[in-house]
Amino acid sequence: MSTQNTAASMQLNFTLNGQLLNMRVGPARRLLDILRLDQGLTGPKEGCSIGRCGACTVQLDGAAVPACLLLAYQVQGKEVSTVEGLSSQPVFQRVADSLIEHGALQCGYCIPGIATSLTAALTQKPHASAAELEQAMCGNLCRCTGYSGLQQVINDLASPDQHI
Ligand code: FES
Ligand code: FES
Repeated sequence: MSTQNTAASMQLNFTLNGQLLNMRVGPARRLLDILRLDQGLTGPKEGCSIGRCGACTVQLDGAAVPACLLLAYQVQGKEVSTVEGLSSQPVFQRVADSLIEHGALQCGYCIPGIATSLTAALTQKPHASAAELEQAMCGNLCRCTGYSGLQQVINDLASPDQHI
């Protein structure tokens, strides 16, 4: 559910997928609405709208966060990346290849969020253990797959000696 600009607008400056953006926006406009409705980026999905499902996950200064809970003023001066911007990164491509190889998706609605979370974790810690990757993904729900394929992806991406 989108929010309207109900408060006085602010000048918002932040970096989106490597490009500096300047816009006037209500300070309480959700980042998810800025991305999807204002910028036309469909990678971040709307699921629960309350920070529980992870479908809207983006990176904020490299950390995986739910865009449905972030308001415009909270991203002032920061760097936001969506799957559209991450997709050229080798770490992201490794994650995407593993998701495909292990058939870890069905409808795909959760996948941008999951790939964003795993990319953030592996960028911060390239030799993360399976347990650490599982922890990084704990905010991302999938209603389709039963997680067995995703577990294989985690073991595939984790350091070889640190599988579950
Ligand atoms: S839509 Fe943001 S966490 Fe579910
Ligand atoms: S593949 Fe459908 S929600 Fe995960």
